[in-house]
Amino acid sequence: MSLNFIQKASTLPKVVTVTGGASGIGLATARSLAKLGCAVSLADLDANKLDAAASTIKTETPEARILTTALDIRDRPGVARWIANTENQLGKISGSFNAAGVANASHTIKPLIETSDEEWDFAVSVNLTGTMNCVKEQVRAMKASRSEGSIVVVASIAGLIGLQNGSAYTAAKFGIVGLIRSVAKETGRLGIRLTGIAPGFVMTPMITDHKFEDGDFMNQIVAATPLGRGAQPEEVADLAVFLLSGASTYLNGSIHTIDGGLIA
Ligand SMILES: NC(=O)c1ccc[n+]([C@@H]2O[C@H](COP(=O)([O-])OP(=O)(O)OC[C@H]3O[C@@H](n4cnc5c(N)ncnc54)[C@H](O)[C@@H]3O)[C@@H](O)[C@H]2O)c1
Repeated sequence: MSLNFIQKASTLPKVVTVTGGASGIGLATARSLAKLGCAVSLADLDANKLDAAASTIKTETPEARILTTALDIRDRPGVARWIANTENQLGKISGSFNAAGVANASHTIKPLIETSDEEWDFAVSVNLTGTMNCVKEQVRAMKASRSEGSIVVVASIAGLIGLQNGSAYTAAKFGIVGLIRSVAKETGRLGIRLTGIAPGFVMTPMITDHKFEDGDFMNQIVAATPLGRGAQPEEVADLAVFLLSGASTYLNGSIHTIDGGLIA
């Protein structure tokens, strides 16, 4: 008997890893996944926010199975240990959501000639190399356990169009899009799908804590967005759950824009 859309959409990986799981889009997605019965392994740089995230999830979903790991995704042996420990404690992974990333006013709203080597290296090492570290270990683990699965990575519309005065962030996010498209071709035959999400702007601490909302930058983005507002993180989480679910089984190597029509 074939399943209907709702049944397919509720077919989710039993164990899902989530980077950036302590905040914003990663946390919203982890909360949804836990409510839908997935065990979630959250990794984030911020140990205090991770504790708060775990208690939020436990309050909402008392039966949730959660593991939290304080981790810098730039630390590749640390990423490998996190994935191995997740499989030991929660079971084999067949879903991964990679949301950890950094944008801040200092390297995101600045002409290239004013961008220091340190700012460039920081944006690229976290957003691109750190994400690659995670995808590499996730593919390795799913391949080793012969698990079919779905790996979702948060890119940005800045991975599809140039963000003026944001060359380091833009270059890193274009790199993520390339990573997704390339690795999807390697892993498709293993039944491991790789997809990307390209948000416009989303009302998370990345935006609200970094003074973007005070300046012209935010006003211009709101004015240019046909829906006239930023997304809530839960709206991005809904797309993430769909891409992890059995309702998206023929999506691979695709990048899904969610921007209220900003770059339409
Ligand atoms: N908010 C937006 O408007 C927007 C738009 C497009 C793309 N994105 C992307 O969405 C993703 C999630 O961002 P968000 O908006 O939820 O922001 P956020 O700041 O709320 O969450 C990002 C999380 O990543 C974690 N993190 C940062 N560096 C890390 C590292 N080296 N190792 C491990 N964890 C690290 C942070 O501690 C934080 O908890 C990012 O990749 C971001 O680039 C966000």
